[in-house]
Amino acid sequence: MIRVRPAHLLFLSLALVPCLGAIPEFYSTRPPFEQPIPLQYTPEGLDGISAKQCGVCHQQIYREWQQSVHAQAWPDPQFQAELKKQPGVSWLCVNCHTPLRNQLDSLVVGLIDDDVERPVKQANPKFEPELKKEGVTCASCHVRDGVVEGPYKEVDAPHEVRYNPAFRSAELCARCHQAVQSYPGKNFICTFTTGDEWAAGPFAKKGTVCQDCHMPAVTRPLAEGTTPRRVGRHGWMASHLRKGGETEPALWHTLAGLAPVGVQLKPGPAPAARAGAQALWKVRAVNARAGHNLPSGDPERAVIVHLFALGARGDTLAQAEERIGQRYQWYPVVKLLSDTRLKPGEGRDVVMRFKVPRGPYRLVARAVNERISDANAGYHRLPDSYERRREVARVELKGMGR
Ligand code: HEC
Ligand code: HEC
Ligand code: HEC
Ligand code: HEC
Ligand code: HEC
Repeated sequence: MIRVRPAHLLFLSLALVPCLGAIPEFYSTRPPFEQPIPLQYTPEGLDGISAKQCGVCHQQIYREWQQSVHAQAWPDPQFQAELKKQPGVSWLCVNCHTPLRNQLDSLVVGLIDDDVERPVKQANPKFEPELKKEGVTCASCHVRDGVVEGPYKEVDAPHEVRYNPAFRSAELCARCHQAVQSYPGKNFICTFTTGDEWAAGPFAKKGTVCQDCHMPAVTRPLAEGTTPRRVGRHGWMASHLRKGGETEPALWHTLAGLAPVGVQLKPGPAPAARAGAQALWKVRAVNARAGHNLPSGDPERAVIVHLFALGARGDTLAQAEERIGQRYQWYPVVKLLSDTRLKPGEGRDVVMRFKVPRGPYRLVARAVNERISDANAGYHRLPDSYERRREVARVELKGMGR
């Protein structure tokens, strides 16, 4: 039994008339992050809105974007695996991962029984398959009303431009990085709170925006052959985890080198205990550099702190582990079980107990950024090229048991 609300039936018949610029009525009833960005026409002076087209003149920005996760937002193997597992909700996901209406093969005109997992779809005659593959592409952020928008008031460009102050504010990022929605009776939620975490913290008060940390400034020509000016790097490096689709490893490393690691490990001194005594080693893990919670973003992310005491031959005498992140229960209902993330500047002690050996020993602490657990990566059959975790910080101390 298909129960589409009368307004939607009306739209179904109207849809035969080409009224493609407007947002379909259905979307206008949904929160902003469940709506695609309206259809975009090619700005005057350009041959198209694909990143490749922009890249002809904005070569360096294009190459940086290619290394970024924004360019991977569609091909991302985890994203693809999740879409296949839950095809019913894919219409929700695409509004952030391929946000332009030009990037959608179909549009939603209603929900059967008001069920978000049972959309009524209609083919999109303006679908551009190549543009979809570019995920969060240049035009996702820069093209509106058939005009290129940017942070500068004065430019001499071969295409129409419009100044938009949002390019130097968190608002531009919040469209996708701040979205909270629960779906009663469903085993999924939408929970991206980076925008709010930032707004509640010290960096918003100081006026340090997302771009200051994630798009570090460089002075260079904005397009080929133009006078150098301030340009924000388009790499958006953060967790130092790779998706596997980067095109230039050397450039990826350069960009990653400019992105600070969020966590800092502050080790307590090696205990001055005698050989054979029980001792404690304390290491403080601090969110020293992220402008929001650590970790932020996807609820599966974690920072894992491992402590080890190693004997003279590298043998493990003791170890301890602390997972900093969120834990959710998904079945039978979605429930947040714990949230141990660190707010900006916040620290947590990780403690290891060990028996002091005779002679030299080593104390090692390492912090690992984790995107997905092995269990979930296995469940999604993710390839090895999909990096699950990476060590981002390490400290080592020498001890001596006498
Ligand atoms: C034919 C070359 C060319 C192409 C293609 C091109 N641009 Fe430009 N663009 C320029 C030049 C030149 C400038 C001005 C540089 C300056 O004044 O420093 C510019 C300026 C800009 C600005 C700054 C505008 C502002 O107000 O801050 C943005 C953003 C921009 N382009 C984005 C794009 C995007 C997105 C595309 C693809 C849809 C694109 N450009 C395609 C040459 C090009
Ligand atoms: C149109 C939606 C959209 C907008 C706007 C957007 N992002 Fe993203 N961003 C995404 C998606 C989707 C991903 C994840 C892609 C993936 O991993 O599959 C992402 C990932 C990221 C990451 C993660 C990097 C890592 O290490 O994993 C950072 C950092 C980031 N974005 C910063 C920004 C900043 C800063 C802005 C504003 C200038 C911004 N984003 C605007 C959609 C968006
Ligand atoms: C996720 C959103 C996003 C995407 C995708 C994106 N940009 Fe930008 N772009 C920005 C922001 C934000 C700024 C302003 C950065 C700053 O100056 O701090 C900017 C600035 C620019 C500028 C002006 C120079 C500067 O840095 O101020 C140009 C030119 C530009 N982008 C071109 C491109 C091109 C070409 C692509 C695709 C290859 C692209 N952008 C993809 C968000 C984006
Ligand atoms: C003071 C600098 C700073 C500001 C401001 C900032 N970030 Fe970050 N962000 C970081 C650092 C550092 C990391 C890397 C954390 C790590 O090591 O995993 C990060 C990580 C991320 C991640 C990946 C998730 C993770 O935990 O690694 C996303 C997504 C992100 N930031 C988005 C944003 C957005 C959106 C804003 C603005 C609302 C923003 N950031 C503001 C520094 C900043
Ligand atoms: C409100 C916008 C939005 C919607 C809707 C959305 N995403 Fe995302 N997605 C993001 C942002 C922003 C990130 C980057 C955060 C991060 O990497 O931690 C992201 C990251 C991801 C990642 C990479 C996670 C990682 O740790 O690298 C996957 C996979 C993903 N999303 C799948 C989905 C699926 C599946 C759906 C639909 C059920 C969906 N997303 C809906 C904005 C969105």
